[in-house]
Amino acid sequence: MKKYARLLAAMLAVVMMVFCFAACGAPATEPTDTETPNEPAANLNLQTEGVLVMGTNAEFPPFEYEEGGAVVGLDAEMMQEAAKRIGVTLEIKNMAFDSLPEALNAKEIDCIAAGLTVSPDREEVMAFTDGYYTAMQTIIVKKDSDITAADGLTDKKIGCQSGTTGQWTAEDYTDVANIVPFANGALAVEALINGQVDAVIIDNNPAKEYGTQYGDQVTLIENQFEAETYAVAVAKDNTALCDAINNAINDMKADGTFDKIVEKYIK
Ligand code: ARG
Repeated sequence: MKKYARLLAAMLAVVMMVFCFAACGAPATEPTDTETPNEPAANLNLQTEGVLVMGTNAEFPPFEYEEGGAVVGLDAEMMQEAAKRIGVTLEIKNMAFDSLPEALNAKEIDCIAAGLTVSPDREEVMAFTDGYYTAMQTIIVKKDSDITAADGLTDKKIGCQSGTTGQWTAEDYTDVANIVPFANGALAVEALINGQVDAVIIDNNPAKEYGTQYGDQVTLIENQFEAETYAVAVAKDNTALCDAINNAINDMKADGTFDKIVEKYIK
């Protein structure tokens, strides 16, 4: 009897060891070597082979802004990582926001990553990846303003960044003659501070940055409009590049890299 018990115990030990090897031996996920790019995907229709040229307007914190002469921010870092995963080098071209669609069309850039909102108008002239961020237009007013909600914008002078969905939103409330488009959001907010416009309409994350910068002078009015989706845009016929960027971003979402980048730039 004792002999059987000992045999049973020995067998049990072997079974447990096998189990342990199976459980502990296999890593939960494949180790990823982030330093080595993948094999470059063929036929991405890049203007220069092996180089992904991203167009942006680096005046849109925290998505893209300049720091020490370099373009940094959520979009820049997301695209650096995407390029690495696709197996190409990223080059960033900084330009006026409203010239990005033309640059894409003229093949001066391969893609746009600029906190760019997907819209039916834009879908006519470019192709979008899946969305990577949800945003909403925010109203910025001076602390003593009588505007407290979107309906208070009727017939007001509204500042915005030229060519943005903020400008399109303004058009729903006031005459085109009352809309003052600026080269960037910072200039629009300065105009607000100086009393040249009654309100600024701009995406919520840059709005928060300006809110912090001018905290004692401005108030943000949030959640007044429909949600918008940011996506990366490529030339309309470049399905291969669209898929490659999409896959890279989706992989980054799946393995947690994307969330880490978002957390780094958005508190
Ligand atoms: N989301 C808005 C749009 O697509 C504003 C984007 C502005 N981006 C920039 N990098 N300045 O129109």
